[in-house]
Amino acid sequence: MAIRIDILTLFPEMFGPVLGTSIPKRAAEKGLVSYHLTGIRDFATDAHKSVDDKPFGGGPGMVMMCQTLFDAVEHVEKQDVRPATRILLTPQGRVLDQTLAEELSRKERLLLIAGHYEGFDERIIDGLSPMELSIGDYVLSGGEVAAMVLIDAIVRLLPGALGAETGAADESFADGLLEYPQYTRPREFRGMDVPDVLLGGNHKAIAQWRLEQRKIRTQTRRPDLWQAWLAKQEKKTKD
Ligand code: 6GU
Repeated sequence: MAIRIDILTLFPEMFGPVLGTSIPKRAAEKGLVSYHLTGIRDFATDAHKSVDDKPFGGGPGMVMMCQTLFDAVEHVEKQDVRPATRILLTPQGRVLDQTLAEELSRKERLLLIAGHYEGFDERIIDGLSPMELSIGDYVLSGGEVAAMVLIDAIVRLLPGALGAETGAADESFADGLLEYPQYTRPREFRGMDVPDVLLGGNHKAIAQWRLEQRKIRTQTRRPDLWQAWLAKQEKKTKD
């Protein structure tokens, strides 16, 4: 059964081009996923269609209001009997990584809530108990782009989403090391050569070279990932 992804947003129109292109589009066409966009403003009840208001206690910016969001969540969740894993996109959340993307790709239904403005009324979090998720330590204007990042990371992991020859299994992060350098034709470009080992047809030597390159890159560029990889290796040899 296809994973169902519901998206609650003030700007549904932002999602069309991303979900309608490349892998996210192909995954939907193959029946691996379905996307359901709902505009939060449709649930505003006053004449001005308000979804936000000034913070109690003062301070800059606006805060997303409870009523519209609760009504929207309840309306959307009724559309399918499967319970949804609720995810609120916020810089205060758990930071997305490949392990979390894999975990979420195994759910049958996700409800992503993308907010705007300075933040959410805390009672939205208390009352709806969503998982709070961030895509990194920087600030975006809203949760929409973060929601698209999350969807892309999840959808490409669904079995059958990538071509038969590709597959997500042996990429960077799948096993904790960065990817090795890649080359394609021509063999020489502006005086720069492709490493000899890749042209020799010795598959064992190529695999060795690639693994070595992955280690060197991870060690120099991402010492945090390198330490985690070393710890994992140590644990493996103990078991
Ligand atoms: Cl999920 N939202 C916003 N507004 N900014 C972010 C983020 C999310 N993740 C990183 N920065």
